[in-house]
Amino acid sequence: MIGRLNHVAIAVPDLEAARRQYRDVLGATVSEAEDLPEHGVSVVFVSLDNTKIELLHPLGEKSPIARFLEKNPDGGMHHVCYEVEDIIAARDRLKAQGARVLGDGEPKIGAHGKPVLFLHPKDFNGTLVELEQV
Ligand code: CO
Repeated sequence: MIGRLNHVAIAVPDLEAARRQYRDVLGATVSEAEDLPEHGVSVVFVSLDNTKIELLHPLGEKSPIARFLEKNPDGGMHHVCYEVEDIIAARDRLKAQGARVLGDGEPKIGAHGKPVLFLHPKDFNGTLVELEQV
């Protein structure tokens, strides 16, 4: 059911420092920092040949990653995103097998303008999983 790894998201305490590190130390192609107020994050996209890395920093009071950074002040891997062809079919299949979908269970438009869902980390080996319809 799942297809390509779309991205790995890493929460970082200092977005510009992380951006420079990926660009200058790791030699990767990085975007400018972008604010996504509707998602409560500022993000830098790192383009790799086979996938992307998203460097996330909290934006605003109710950022979904603020608490994560409180618990992990050095930063850390926040979620992985797998591509699916049909997000409703994927959701229904997962729910039928007992996986919990976060929020109201309806897909939301994600950071790339495509429908996404998040699955409960306790159901997936402690890893927050995002599904994105491509
Ligand atoms: Co993501």
